[in-house]
Amino acid sequence: MFVLVNLKTYPCDPVAIAEAVSDVNERTDARLAVAPQAAHLERVAETGAETWGQHVDPIEHGSNTGHTLAESVADAGAVGTLINHSERREKLADIDGAIRAADRADLETVVCANNPAQIGAAAALEPDAVAVEPPELIGTGTPVSQADPDIVEDAVAAAETVADDVSVLCGAGISTGDDVVAAGELGTEGVLLASGVAKADDPTAALEDLVAPL
Ligand code: G3P
Repeated sequence: MFVLVNLKTYPCDPVAIAEAVSDVNERTDARLAVAPQAAHLERVAETGAETWGQHVDPIEHGSNTGHTLAESVADAGAVGTLINHSERREKLADIDGAIRAADRADLETVVCANNPAQIGAAAALEPDAVAVEPPELIGTGTPVSQADPDIVEDAVAAAETVADDVSVLCGAGISTGDDVVAAGELGTEGVLLASGVAKADDPTAALEDLVAPL
């Protein structure tokens, strides 16, 4: 299972969490990665943790003040990027452009979406993966894999209908190993989470708990 920890703009120490991700990753069969803010990418990548961007824009080098260029995210040491997070919504054309920009920079892509219909639309754009995250469960500690299993199974089915090789992740409220196991049983290949690690008193213990049953 892939466990991708999104640090959002939480007031956590991104380097300390990245060190915990790197450490726990060496002791599990799961794949752990961390997505810090853009300004922290380089310092996080230097820890050796698999590092992801939280966003890239559908642009190339040029006159794009204030935008995030995929090549710069890759130069900073990231190997992948989120696109269209619920807290960073994009139009369909811009999601498509961001996937192309990430492909150009050799970044792996996870496109987030609210529900199975959006997952189908996102999967048709052929990112590497899609992640279903019901916005109403984000940050609640109520795990989507247990609170709303139908939405996860429907998202897996929606992605399979339009694309053969797009992985499906789920997120929102995931914080324990049981939540990750439940996500796998619903047909996903991983989870996207934030507060369960970024707001934990002991991020290493939180990560160990997440991967313990895997
Ligand atoms: O990107 C992950 C996220 O939106 C879920 O947040 O805090 O519910 O794990 P959280």
